[in-house]
This record gives sequence, C-alpha cells and structure tokens, in this order.
Amino acid sequence: MKDLKNDLFLRACHRQPVERTPIWLMRQAGRYMPEYRALREKAGGFVAFYKNVELSVEATILPRKILGVDASIIFSDILTPLESIGMKFEFREGEGPVFFNPIKQPDDILRLKKFDRNDVHYVGEIIKGVNRALDREIPTIGFCGAPFTLAAYMIEGRTSRDFKKAKTFMYNHPDAFKDLLDRLADMLIDYLNFQIESGADAVQIFDSWGGYLSPEDYTEFALPPIKKIIKGLNRDYQPVIHFTKGVAGFFDDMISSGADVYGVDWMIDISVVKEKLKGKAAAQGNLDPIVLYADKEVIREKAVSILKKWGKDTGHIFNLGHGLMPDMEVEKVKYLVDVVKEESKR
Ligand code: CP3
Repeated sequence: MKDLKNDLFLRACHRQPVERTPIWLMRQAGRYMPEYRALREKAGGFVAFYKNVELSVEATILPRKILGVDASIIFSDILTPLESIGMKFEFREGEGPVFFNPIKQPDDILRLKKFDRNDVHYVGEIIKGVNRALDREIPTIGFCGAPFTLAAYMIEGRTSRDFKKAKTFMYNHPDAFKDLLDRLADMLIDYLNFQIESGADAVQIFDSWGGYLSPEDYTEFALPPIKKIIKGLNRDYQPVIHFTKGVAGFFDDMISSGADVYGVDWMIDISVVKEKLKGKAAAQGNLDPIVLYADKEVIREKAVSILKKWGKDTGHIFNLGHGLMPDMEVEKVKYLVDVVKEESKR
C-alpha cells in the first residue's frame, strides 16, 4: 500500500490477504526500554520529551529497531492537545497526570478555549520525522484519547479508581457533560485530521475508561462523540482503530462506531470478537499484558492460543489488551513479537 515496504498492518486493517499476522504493542515506546529512559533523561521530563521533535522521533522508532514490530505509534500522549484548550497539567513520577485547573462546574466548560492545531505543531513534525527516519519501512500510527476518557481526566484531575467526580458530574449535569464531549469530539476531528495530513497511515482512538460505564451510559455518553469523530475524518486509505478497555459488556454497541478495526482487551475471547464482527471489520488484540511476566513457554502458549482462535483469515492485528508496563523485560517482549511472526505464517 502506498509507498510502504512492509504494509502488513494496513492490509490486515483493511482485511486484505496477509502472509502472517502483523504485530505492534500499545505503549511499545516506554520506560521498560533502557534506551527510552536515556532519551527521557536527556529531555528532562515527560512533557519536555513529547514536545521535543528530535527525541520523540527517536523514541517512536526504538520499537522497530529493538523489537521488529510492524507499525510505529508516535510517541506522545492522549493529553497533549488539552493544553491548547486551556487545561494545565503535569505528569508526576509514579502518579501520572495531575491537572491544576480541573473542571468543577458546568460554567468551567464554557471557559475552554478553541483548539488550535498550531499549538501541537510538534506532533505533525514528529509524524513527518518518523516517516523520514524509517524511510517508509512500516506504517506510522497517530492517535488521540476518546472524548469520555479525556473528559474523565479533565474533571477528575488525575487518574482514579472509580471516576467518582467525573461520573457524578455526568449524572448531575448530563447536558453540560454532553456539551463537553461534543467540544472534545470537534477538537479531536481537527487533531486527527492534522495527524493524517502530516502523514499518519492510521489513527487509533484510545477509550481507556469507557469500560467503566454501564452499557446504557456507554451508549448514551461515550459512543456518540466517537461516531462523530470517525465520520469527521478526511481520509482515503487510512484506517481508524477504536480501542476500548473493558468492552466485554457492550461490544455489540461498540462495533457500531464505524471504525475499520476494533481494539479489545483480554476480558473478551477473540473467537467471540471474530464471530460478532462477521468479517465486517478487523480486530486488534488481545493478550493479557501480565502474561509477559510469565515464563517464555507460557508466553508462547497464550500467544498461539489467540492466533489459533482467530485462524488463518486476515483481519487480525496482534496486540496486547492494554499497554506494556515499565517493569517488563525487553527480552520477553521481543520473544512475543518473534513468536507471533513465526507462528502466524500463512
Ligand atoms: O503506545 C505508545 O508507545 C505511544 C505513546 C503513548 C503514551 N501514552 C506514552 C506515555 C500512548 C498511545 C499513550 C496513551 C495514553 N496516555 C492513554 C491511553 C492508553 C492507556 O494506557 O490506557 C492514557 C490513559 C494516557 C494517560 C497517561 N499518560 C497516564 C495515566 C500516564 C501515567 C501512567 C504511566 O504509565 O506512567 C501517562 C504517561 C505516559 N504516557 C508515559 C508514556 C511513555 C510514561 C511517561 C514517563 O516516561 O514517565
């Protein structure tokens, strides 16, 4: 496809024939790699890192060099575009993102600024830089957070176990909450179109917290803005991947979003995913990341089990059900990539 040397990932997204199953891993550019930690040190903190084009390009291409994955995901974060609309935050060691001005009442939503893609020009430069550095060897994936996941952070102000503040806001002020989701959807359409114009070959929407909603609330709140985003993208061949964590309870609803590929966690069996998709969309997933702490024989066995359940048909991209963790061993991660490449040959 296009000018790519290895387009397995894109072919699988479009359910075209493949010689083997492509693989990439969520959070593949991360702290488990010593090379990543060195770049982070050089940048002086996570935010300075993702705003530094040169170092971010290097971080993005590390997994290609070290693991041999079939796609690069740009090194950035889902919170990156929120600075442009007036949200102020930092990332704290061992704690994650913390906002200084979380949304507390409906009026706070009216004070949000209009998104300006010039504020995230570095994201476009990173995409261009990656395509240059890898000489179009493998596709480059751009991404954003889903409106519900971003709204949850903006209201909660930090990562939460139960999203008490965000969900209470949603229940007490449903119209204001929907207005916030709609504003975020408009921002994300512009942000993803900017990434596609900059050369992203695919885009992924991360709805990490949508699965914390009841099926009813998921359908009412989380899903409509995702549908709006997917409709609003200007793309020709670039597939959209829609990932939701904790999706087993409402997978049937999720697959009406209009995406080309559905990313799933490990709490739903991949054979059920295949059956429900009926060949109308592709699937991405879904090894439990914790398997990577187990012995190599277990890693092989669990990966092969997923490959067998999907079978030899195209339309499957191997991935984890959620991201790699900082204390994982590079050697085992690489072992997984090798096993999938070896065991999925057609
Ligand atoms: O997948 C990739 O390698 C691409 C880069 C990427 C990062 N974050 C880098 C990152 C992507 C796609 C994300 C998405 C993201 N960010 C999500 C959705 C996916 C998911 O994991 O559910 C969420 C919820 C966030 C928000 C976020 N960013 C949190 C909660 C944290 C702190 C937790 C942690 O792991 O430290 C981050 C920081 C972050 N984003 C790091 C990286 C590599 C660690 C930063 C560091 O070096 O300290």
